[in-house]
Amino acid sequence: MKPRIKICMGSSCFRRGNRMNLEFIEAYLEEHGCTAEVELVGSRCEEKCRKGPNLEINGRMYHEVSREMLADLLGQVIRGESGE
Ligand code: FES
Repeated sequence: MKPRIKICMGSSCFRRGNRMNLEFIEAYLEEHGCTAEVELVGSRCEEKCRKGPNLEINGRMYHEVSREMLADLLGQVIRGESGE
């Protein structure tokens, strides 16, 4: 099964960083030639706005996601280390 990244596109998360995070994820996947191997989906507000920007990888939720954190997480996804 493909790894699944679900990024919150609710207005709070979007404003607090997920707009840039989404661009970063898309660019990262493209750069590493794995756009087709990862499922990237958006979600509505998960009602955890205060901890945002939020995203989920293989069912695990991450909060206050920064670009540095994303680079680490995406590396794990690509290496198949992001288990549930
Ligand atoms: S906007 Fe992301 S949790 Fe509310």
